Amino acid sequence: MKKINIAIDGLAGSGKSSVAKVIAKKLGYTYIDTGSMYRCVAYLLVVNKISPSDDKKIQDILDSNYDYSYINEEVFLNGENVTVKIRTKEVNEMLPKIVPNPIVRSVMVQKQQEMGKKRGVIMDGRDIASVVLKDAELKIYQVADLNVRADRRYKENLEKGITTSYEEVLKNLEHRDYVDTYVSKALVKVEDAIVLDTTNMSFDEVVNYILKLVEERV
Ligand code: C5P
Repeated sequence: MKKINIAIDGLAGSGKSSVAKVIAKKLGYTYIDTGSMYRCVAYLLVVNKISPSDDKKIQDILDSNYDYSYINEEVFLNGENVTVKIRTKEVNEMLPKIVPNPIVRSVMVQKQQEMGKKRGVIMDGRDIASVVLKDAELKIYQVADLNVRADRRYKENLEKGITTSYEEVLKNLEHRDYVDTYVSKALVKVEDAIVLDTTNMSFDEVVNYILKLVEERV
């Protein structure tokens, strides 16, 4: 069957990645979680005690010490499994300081475009439809109310063994919404994207809705 590329953009906690993972499995597509790639950069800065304003060191570390891979739903950085380590409070706090950086964004976009060259990719993030995979056959702009997103992220964290309080999760999401919308301005709804509000939808409803859209395009 013909394969297409799918771009899913939306704010943190809108349910993009869980949905994308299931769809990738069902269709035999490759899932690419671009948020985890930015998280790995933030993680590198935290562990190497690099200031988010030191562009020279950031460029160096991206050139020499950023070997990212995603295998069986686990994130590897330079051979180390960092799946849990990239979701700590320190990394969350570093993220808004590095995601607007043009050096970081250009390296990330380049790597993501390389990964999306073949058809049969489902990629989620903020700027996928507008920058990374402009020619994706299906573009989804996923939204959900802030409180619903915070609730989902809080429960997701608990499942992963991360014990950040609900209030902290909510505050961090609010701040990252602000950065994605007004500072990095990475999150853009392109004209040909389909808006999907998941606030009152069950997980299965969202998956089935997207699968139907894929079927129409294939
Ligand atoms: O998706 P997730 O919340 O894990 O992404 C981590 C952070 O990386 C987001 O808060 C967002 O600011 C940034 N990001 C981005 N562009 C992307 C994916 C993520 O700016 N394509």
